[in-house]
Amino acid sequence: MSVLVLGATGFIGPRLIRNLIARGESVVGMDLNPAAAAFGDVPIGAPVVRGDVTQFEDVMRTMLEVKPERVINLAYGLGAGEGNPHQVMRLDILGMDNCFEAARLAGVKRVVYASSIAVSGQQSHFGERLVNEDDPVHGTSQYAMHKIFNEFQARKYIKNYGMSIVGVRPANVTGPDKVRGSTDHVQIMTEAARGKAVHLPKKGLMRLLIHVEDMAEVFARVLLAEAPRHSLYNSGGIPVSLGELADIVHGFLPEAQITFAEEGGREDSGNYLVDSSRLGKEFGIEYPGLHTRVLEVINDVRRQEGLPPCTTTGSRRTATST
Ligand SMILES: NC(=O)c1ccc[n+]([C@@H]2O[C@H](COP(=O)([O-])OP(=O)(O)OC[C@H]3O[C@@H](n4cnc5c(N)ncnc54)[C@H](O)[C@@H]3O)[C@@H](O)[C@H]2O)c1
Repeated sequence: MSVLVLGATGFIGPRLIRNLIARGESVVGMDLNPAAAAFGDVPIGAPVVRGDVTQFEDVMRTMLEVKPERVINLAYGLGAGEGNPHQVMRLDILGMDNCFEAARLAGVKRVVYASSIAVSGQQSHFGERLVNEDDPVHGTSQYAMHKIFNEFQARKYIKNYGMSIVGVRPANVTGPDKVRGSTDHVQIMTEAARGKAVHLPKKGLMRLLIHVEDMAEVFARVLLAEAPRHSLYNSGGIPVSLGELADIVHGFLPEAQITFAEEGGREDSGNYLVDSSRLGKEFGIEYPGLHTRVLEVINDVRRQEGLPPCTTTGSRRTATST
């Protein structure tokens, strides 16, 4: 099957492309920065053309050339802040609409887009309960508002044109090379892996973690499915406080220097209790345990740095001394 990945060379894109290629799909990527190096210099394994999603002609031309059966849009102003509202609006809102409109004109069979857990806003709006895809949205940041509008626009295209457009709301995606969006959880693992100190504001702040390879798997399954039953899915993930994450890291790296300015933070947390049963039931998605993924992230970083890996053998988990 022919798949076009817009926003191909960021954090999630290369993993998704490699996942699709491994399944035997034919993939082309498009990105403003097509030559960006992937983590570990692992080749993406598919051609990536230069194109700007804010330019309708770029998106349309690429779709007509590639003739994809499936398109996914990952190009976004993640972590672009609130300080550049015009430029970020063009990328997030116009870029997404260009993707939907070009897909319509090109007769693409399925469009998948990344929404975000950010649409839900603070967990405190819901109390201590799981939030599902039909719950009201309370996000107030520009990023959240853009995702909320993307979901609105997707519903319009589905209703007016009968298109198959499916949104996925990723939780806090984590991995060794994440630099945009939420990165406190990443720093706890990666700085410790490098033997560097990390100091963060709030020990009790909650995150809902999903490893980037698991996120890529979710996107691949939704993209390739014959007929998804819903137009929106929560990725879900594993809820953990930053303090608990630090404890897991200490289990592997007892000398890790992870400190916090204060204990609290739970009450300030974004949505971290999420019902992802819709995705789980339909796509059979199950995530590996957090300890497994934390060790992977630590060792991915240590490999990059030329440091010996941590092991889980023996009574005490520790870095090997070789
Ligand atoms: N990473 C997360 O934790 C997370 C969580 C929730 C939702 N999401 C969503 O998932 C999607 C992918 O996230 P990511 O972490 O891979 O983001 P990323 O920022 O790492 O990657 C985005 C890619 O888009 C490209 N891009 C930027 N402007 C472009 C333009 N005008 N035209 C073409 N390409 C352009 C960038 O060069 C980059 O390669 C985004 O929509 C993001 O909002 C991510």
